[in-house]
Amino acid sequence: MFKRFRRLRINETLRNLVQETTLTKNDFIYPLFVKEGENIKIEVSSMPGVFQMSIDEILKECEYIRTIGLNSIILFAIPDVKDSVGSECLCEESIISRTIKAIKGKFPDMFIVTDLCFCEYTDHGHCGILDPKTQTVDNDKTLEISAQQAIVHAKAGADMIAPSGMMDGIIECLRTALDENGFKDLPIMAYSTKFASAYYGPFRDVAESTPSFGDRRTYQMNPANRLEALEESLEDEKQGADILMVKPALAFMDVIRDIRNNSNLPICAYNVSGEYAMLKHAGAAGLIDYERVMLETLIGFKRAGADLIITYHAKEACELLNK
Ligand code: PBG
Ligand code: ZN
Repeated sequence: MFKRFRRLRINETLRNLVQETTLTKNDFIYPLFVKEGENIKIEVSSMPGVFQMSIDEILKECEYIRTIGLNSIILFAIPDVKDSVGSECLCEESIISRTIKAIKGKFPDMFIVTDLCFCEYTDHGHCGILDPKTQTVDNDKTLEISAQQAIVHAKAGADMIAPSGMMDGIIECLRTALDENGFKDLPIMAYSTKFASAYYGPFRDVAESTPSFGDRRTYQMNPANRLEALEESLEDEKQGADILMVKPALAFMDVIRDIRNNSNLPICAYNVSGEYAMLKHAGAAGLIDYERVMLETLIGFKRAGADLIITYHAKEACELLNK
């Protein structure tokens, strides 16, 4: 006797009743890129629908996304000045601080995550201070300035800090710094398992953060490693991370599931720029049904074990879910 699975697929109501995974507007964090200036809204050619925006335009965008039920953003800044240590992001008048304060001034309950890294602020484009001898990022020196950057974000009013540089010990370092400066209740979302990925290409166009030499393989992970991927996240949990992350997401669904099965922390999937660009351009070329492929992809992250999703699709997904 064989089983008749099709019984439970017979109509939509029944299909909905037995659906195991759901996608809601509460699942998303929407990335925004802030640039110096006024009245600036520049679309990125590799990422249709994604813009570099000045603070006034960011405020308009926040106003709109709130009307569709999207209330969480992750901020990336594109500073005018860069130097070897990324000094711009260590001062309290930095572009990121001014943006956070402007958003909080208008929309106090907007949930603002900040990406904490140095690649957008350094003239060499690497994610920290370089060791002059080896020309690779000096881990422990970078930890010191990362703590400073975290305090800048916290003082400006960030709701959650997300360090993305893949420095060892970063979570413990930031947790201590935040606690000592009166920010015991500020959560840290670790970019705990982040691979050295070609999928970041379009992001580096929009964030203007392509390294001027070499690559990030001495700090970001080898995409071939599954056990190490799990260790990275479990280590960040030990150091005090509140939320873990897998980035990119699409080619690493097994890693999301491994972490889900080995940790009870919430897991974030970062649906990165290259993943977004592939769907967008395939949709525009008429090769796929963009909206359906997008929703199938997003629910796939949930099914794999993610609780929250950073995605450039967030706005479109919310608009669709509202229909
Ligand atoms: C900064 C950072 C990157 C992304 C998020 N934070 C780029 C990188 O590591 O090169 C990538 C996001 C994306 O591709 O959407 N370290
Ligand atoms: Zn970086």
